[in-house]
Amino acid sequence: MVPAAPTFLCPPGIAIRTAGPVERRRAADLVTVAFLFGAPPLTAENQAALTRAIIDGYKDEKRATAFVAWSGSAMVGAVLCVCEGVERAGFPAGWTMLRALGVAGDANGRGVGAALTLRVVSHAMTMAAAGVGLYTAEDNLRAKRLYERLGFIAISSVFTLYGLAYRRHGLGRVGAEALLTNHEDANHANRSH
Ligand SMILES: CC(C)(COP(=O)(O)OP(=O)(O)OC[C@H]1O[C@@H](n2cnc3c(N)ncnc32)[C@H](O)[C@@H]1OP(=O)(O)O)[C@@H](O)C(=O)NCCC(=O)NCCS
Repeated sequence: MVPAAPTFLCPPGIAIRTAGPVERRRAADLVTVAFLFGAPPLTAENQAALTRAIIDGYKDEKRATAFVAWSGSAMVGAVLCVCEGVERAGFPAGWTMLRALGVAGDANGRGVGAALTLRVVSHAMTMAAAGVGLYTAEDNLRAKRLYERLGFIAISSVFTLYGLAYRRHGLGRVGAEALLTNHEDANHANRSH
């Protein structure tokens, strides 16, 4: 049983929880829509392939833990943490992979994306991962800014996926632990003011 996200990782009014099978299906729909409207546009064929990958990823309970962000009873975002077979995606053995992060349109810009990313980093560290990797499209400036702000750096050259230029980004264990500690410290500072 995975522990709930420490509250210091969440913006006010947001709770992040591990998703069960029903929530995972809803999360796949939310993330599909988030990509459709918030990520760089794709051809119909590539959009269909991406949608299939998102749905399959959220179905795959064996390989991926799904975290969902809630604002009261409204689901506002979701992400996957893949702990197995990430070498096939080009990451070092022992790393985990953040996949299929999406935030509902009207919940953007409140820190939900950052909180879900931190939740994956925190889970990865609990699982003794050596690092956390992800794919992001070069043109997805909002996502790139989010990951770079949290300390992820480009760790591969460009490759083509869904007809777009993508790159692998990663955060090693030392950086990941520092990120979590900094957030914990910032939270303590906020509380004492
Ligand atoms: C990319 C995505 C996940 C970002 O989610 P988000 O919840 O908006 O992310 P955050 O709120 O944590 O950060 C986004 C911005 O909001 C700002 N922000 C965060 N908390 C804020 C707050 N309380 N008040 C105002 N602004 C805030 C951040 O500084 C950041 O600004 P920047 O873009 O200028 O750097 C979301 O836009 C999305 O789902 N996009 C489509 C799917 C996608 O691209 N997924 C990632 C694929 S790799």
